Amino acid sequence: MHQDMKEILISEAEIAEKVTELGQMISRDYKDLNPLCICVLKGAVPFMADLIRKMEIPVEVDFMAVSSYGSSTKSSGVVRILKDLEASVEGRHVLVVEDIIDSGLTLSYLIAMLKGRKAASVKVATLLDKPARRTVDLKPDYCGFEIPDEFVVGYGLDYAEKYRNLPYIGVLKEEVYSS
Ligand code: XMP
Ligand code: MG
Repeated sequence: MHQDMKEILISEAEIAEKVTELGQMISRDYKDLNPLCICVLKGAVPFMADLIRKMEIPVEVDFMAVSSYGSSTKSSGVVRILKDLEASVEGRHVLVVEDIIDSGLTLSYLIAMLKGRKAASVKVATLLDKPARRTVDLKPDYCGFEIPDEFVVGYGLDYAEKYRNLPYIGVLKEEVYSS
């Protein structure tokens, strides 16, 4: 385990098993719909990469970057588009792939935007969900794990851009924040 971690919350093996399960579920639900998977950069990159390889149907991918956080661990509530999609979503069955839903502000903004652009449907797949922190009414259609209200890193998730490459989800030691 990395020296800055207090504990491993979800192991590499547990993630792999869950992602396989989600990929199969999504494949069944989206059979013949040619979904467009939208990866929300940067945190969802490992999840997206693993998930689409467990989908046994034709899919297309696109990427978007939004910002609701600085390097702090609290939401500012402001959603800014840093990088927009390459192609139109009009008439497409869109699956937004996220790393984590916290307040839900980022996603509810994205969902409204995609519906405004006339997507045929918009659903959400998230690896992690912190339902205790929700401030808007939003439930993911596909969720890997519900987790307690702790700041987690790894498998795409960062603290000040670090730890994204860890293969597991871990909880940071308190002294890492305060130093
Ligand atoms: P909201 O509050 O809009 O936030 O649902 C979603 C985004 O917040 C970030 N986030 C975290 N990032 N560890 C992280 O590394 C966490 O525990 C955490 N909680 C929220 C994340 O970027 C997500 O897309
Ligand atoms: Mg982040």
